[in-house]
Amino acid sequence: MIDLSSDTATRPTAEMRAFMVAAPVGDEQRREDPSVNELQELAATLTGKEAALFLPSGTMCNVIAYAVHCARGETVILDQEAHPNIAERGGPAVIGNVILRSVAGERGIFTVEQVKRFINPGSTHAARSGLISVENTTNRGGGAVWPLPRLAELRELADANGMKLHMDGARLMNAVVASGNSAATFAAYTDSVWVDLSKGLGAPVGAVLAGTHEFIEEARLWKHLLGGAMRQAGIIAAAGIYAFRYNVDRLADDHANARVLAEGLATVPGIRLLHAPIETNIVYFDVKETGLMPAAIEAVINQRGVRIGGAYSQSTVMRAVTHLDVSREDCERAIDAVRDAVLVATPARSTTF
Ligand SMILES: Cc1ncc(COP(=O)(O)O)c(C=O)c1O
Repeated sequence: MIDLSSDTATRPTAEMRAFMVAAPVGDEQRREDPSVNELQELAATLTGKEAALFLPSGTMCNVIAYAVHCARGETVILDQEAHPNIAERGGPAVIGNVILRSVAGERGIFTVEQVKRFINPGSTHAARSGLISVENTTNRGGGAVWPLPRLAELRELADANGMKLHMDGARLMNAVVASGNSAATFAAYTDSVWVDLSKGLGAPVGAVLAGTHEFIEEARLWKHLLGGAMRQAGIIAAAGIYAFRYNVDRLADDHANARVLAEGLATVPGIRLLHAPIETNIVYFDVKETGLMPAAIEAVINQRGVRIGGAYSQSTVMRAVTHLDVSREDCERAIDAVRDAVLVATPARSTTF
């Protein structure tokens, strides 16, 4: 199956598996797992932070960061389509005890003015604003990369208001490869940042959250509280070490493939690209003018061994994400499959276009 439904679809390669098998392990709850410790040091160095913490998922990174940065009932200002708003099962409210104040960014990237409207120092009536949360790259924004000057402005705003700044770096390394800025350069504007290992980096599981020593020690308490502390976790942490070593530069291939995919899909009658230009590995497109719903297209392309999905209920928008298990040829096959699905279902179009 050519699986473009998400970059979480990557499976560990034979080389990564071999590296995992050979990993030294210990009890990570007691900080005795050499591979976990090495991964954490690597992530701290990479992001220019004092310390890092290996966690089972990016979702846990976000909720722990919110809980550490904010007192109960404080607000987190973020984009309306940011992951905690759309896909974390209410975790920020249930576990983090925070209120999410959503702004409508442009491709998930918002302005200082938009944030200012929601900032409140707290009063007998209003909740205090504790945190600004950005996503880099933006998932629902089609993999857009945050410009550094915008981050600098947000940093200034956060400092002026006694707030913290958090970066959801599920795809931070895609932003790094696409922009040429280092992870530490992006992270320098933030109090906390995390990187997902199980997306484009190709590891099977895990994420690493980074910040000051103090922040990470508090995050560690939450990790235990949530049951996220593991034992011989080096076996999976090793995949993260391997990924940082060998799977970062190749993200450029995924970005090039995403552009090929986008250009090809744009030539299919009735398909309209969203969020152009394609900056990284995520391609959103609207199939409304084909007269078909995504499910109908999906059913046909599935039979051709292609999966895209990502369609949101009642929406005509689809999302295709490139990653290391998808080649240039696979993208071309996916384009053909979508084209055929559209033309077979709407034969009149084949003569119209
Ligand atoms: C932008 C963003 N943040 C957070 C997450 C959550 O990561 P995880 O699946 O590791 O919990 C995702 C996952 O798709 C994501 O795209």
